[in-house]
Amino acid sequence: MAERAILLIDDDENSRLSLCEILELQGYGVIAVATGEEGLRLHKENNFKLILTDLRLPGLSGIDVIRKVKSLTPDAETIILTGYATVETAVEAMRIGAFSYLKKPFGKDELLVTLEKALEHHRLKTENTKLKSEIRQSCAAAITGTSQAVVVLREGIEKVADTDSTVLILGESGTGKELVAKALHYGSSRCNKPFVPINCAAIPEDLLESELFGFEKGAFTGAIAAKAGRFEVADGGTIFLDEIGDMSPGLQVKILRVLQEKEFERIGGRSPIKVDVRVVAATNQDLEAAVEHKRFRKDLYYRLNVIPIHTPTLRERRDDIQILLKHFLDKGFHLKKKEIKGPTPEAMKALQEYDWPGNIRELENLVERLIVLKEDGSAITIKDLPDKIRQKTFDSAVLAGNINMPADGIDFNAVVDNFEKDLIMTAMSKVGGVKKKAAEYLGLNRTTLIEKMKRKGMIEADDDAEDIVERTNP
Ligand SMILES: Nc1ncnc2c1ncn2[C@@H]1O[C@H](COP(=O)(O)OP(=O)(O)OP(=O)(O)O)[C@@H](O)[C@H]1O
Ligand SMILES: [Mg+2]
Repeated sequence: MAERAILLIDDDENSRLSLCEILELQGYGVIAVATGEEGLRLHKENNFKLILTDLRLPGLSGIDVIRKVKSLTPDAETIILTGYATVETAVEAMRIGAFSYLKKPFGKDELLVTLEKALEHHRLKTENTKLKSEIRQSCAAAITGTSQAVVVLREGIEKVADTDSTVLILGESGTGKELVAKALHYGSSRCNKPFVPINCAAIPEDLLESELFGFEKGAFTGAIAAKAGRFEVADGGTIFLDEIGDMSPGLQVKILRVLQEKEFERIGGRSPIKVDVRVVAATNQDLEAAVEHKRFRKDLYYRLNVIPIHTPTLRERRDDIQILLKHFLDKGFHLKKKEIKGPTPEAMKALQEYDWPGNIRELENLVERLIVLKEDGSAITIKDLPDKIRQKTFDSAVLAGNINMPADGIDFNAVVDNFEKDLIMTAMSKVGGVKKKAAEYLGLNRTTLIEKMKRKGMIEADDDAEDIVERTNP
């Protein structure tokens, strides 16, 4: 059955019938009505792709119908049919968004060609809208997490993505600054143009300058051919100046000029080059402090900081640790075809309590390592986790409520000394008093443990009898 794509509004019965016949013969599905009111009612129910409407109607006019249709469904195409086509009515219809108009009497071919063009236009428009929204969603969705901090981050990205404003992304290492920069680019209408990242900390100063601005042939020894810089490559798109806090003062001035005047020269070039580039910058440094210490130009800071976006640390979004862990395990499964099961409750607790100084990248790297090291199908246990992650749960469990903190202060060294003694004694009794095993348990070198015990008066200075026994009976 033909798709019911077209709505026809015409009060003249003869013309309605003959149009219907032509269209149906061509395989179009048509619904025909005599008034604008009836037509709108049906459009609300069926959301037609294309509406053909007569200009003069008994109630609502064709122009009124188009206006309403466009406000309800901006993507629907409309064509006005009129026996009274004057330049003004045609202009008016097009101004409010009609796709075209047909002057009565029109021939069958003229009708069919106009109609096909309108439907093709509609198809391209919906395809484009769909693609754009898919890209936008997939970029924002790549930022995994459900914590409040991430919801705020995603909302911020969606709000500013499709603007030309300069964005400064601030956040600790591994918090996803580059991911945010990409989401901003692919969520904007610049998404079909290049996204050009450049790490300002990784490249030596003079090389960075030629990378950014390019050079003319003969600008310096070795410049055997002219080369476009990243700003030129990024024309129409986005340049991502990563680690901008590490940029030298000389280059800071040059970036400032691009931001202010949207132009620059290649090294050794004479004529200014104009570019349309959106600038997104990122740093894990405290730029305000750098400005205060005169390491970063204040004027550049203000130019860059038009819209600041903060990427939260993983410890500010502990709720997301489990989701991110699953996300990286799934990713690993797709890439390596190896399934590692979620952590045991004990391991999860350790992961939750750890501070993650390397943030999401640290978690991602840990998962990658576990996928390589563990057997297919096995689950992550506390034993699989690195010491520093296990240590945190141990510390907090041991310390919780165990230290008396009187109002007038404590003797730090004495408390730490006692704590160490307690740990050693507990470890010794756990392993039946064998120093070698106690050292292993504590993750210390055996000699270090014995030294500590001697210093703390836990054993005699010349007490190494057990040592000999231990050495001979490993
Ligand atoms: N919310 C998130 N969901 C999924 N993956 C993430 C998320 N945030 C970051 N990642 C991943 O973590 C890693 C680190 O992210 P990214 O490189 O963007 O961090 P960064 O802030 O730029 O770090 P650095 O300051 O060290 O350059 C990347 O592999 C990225 O894909
Ligand atoms: Mg980065």
